[in-house]
Amino acid sequence: GDVAVLVPAAGAGIRLGPGAPKALRPLAGEPLLVHAVRRIAGARSVHTIVVAAPVADVPAVQELLAPVAPVTVVPGGAHRQDSVAAALAAVPAGPEIVLVHDAARALVPAELVESVAAAVRSGHDAVIPVLPVVDTVKEVCADEVVRGTVDRSVLRAVQTPQGFRRSVLAAAHAAAVDPLTDDAGLVEKQGVPVVCVPGSEYALKITRPFDLALAEHLLTVRP
Ligand code: CTP
Ligand code: MG
Repeated sequence: GDVAVLVPAAGAGIRLGPGAPKALRPLAGEPLLVHAVRRIAGARSVHTIVVAAPVADVPAVQELLAPVAPVTVVPGGAHRQDSVAAALAAVPAGPEIVLVHDAARALVPAELVESVAAAVRSGHDAVIPVLPVVDTVKEVCADEVVRGTVDRSVLRAVQTPQGFRRSVLAAAHAAAVDPLTDDAGLVEKQGVPVVCVPGSEYALKITRPFDLALAEHLLTVRP
């Protein structure tokens, strides 16, 4: 394998409601992070997995993942971007393709991991999986009055894993100032073209209780 996958998993999961950090909450009896790592490890190209865990849970996460796949666990940071940077710093020499995948996208198919990695391998410096936007989208003013309707056809909803040539991701993180919600955003600021590939509905981000219920259902349909 020529791919390292960084798994930011250090978030609190505030929008999921009170409870453990999101990556450690159960989905069909196993933590979200276990589902995510098992699926990532099932992708043939994956050589290295580095998880950024909540600081207080690093030893627990090491124990949790030991039976699932060989992983390195590092303490995450205050923002997602800090967690990704910490994981990136722990990647050993070797892999020249680095993917970043949210633990919250626990049902990511191994095929999506492979297709993003393959697009980087074929020569793209930065690759993101996307879906078309299905809802009509409005721009609103501060008082919730509509300013206008956005042209949906040019919009894409962005998922992870996002894939990068290693040197490109490292340079983007080294130059980062304000925290962004995705890594491709940092790369864009460097002027590097970011290419879209088809995403997967199974790679939905489990954010709110509805998403967790949906993921439970999806596992009963397609384990
Ligand atoms: N993440 C992280 N470190 C942080 C914040 C987020 O590693 N300081 C990770 C989360 O664990 C998650 C991914 O980034 O896998 C996407 O973040 P999000 O879905 O927002 O998760 P949380 O931040 O945990 O959720 P919330 O924003 O509702 O608290
Ligand atoms: Mg968050």
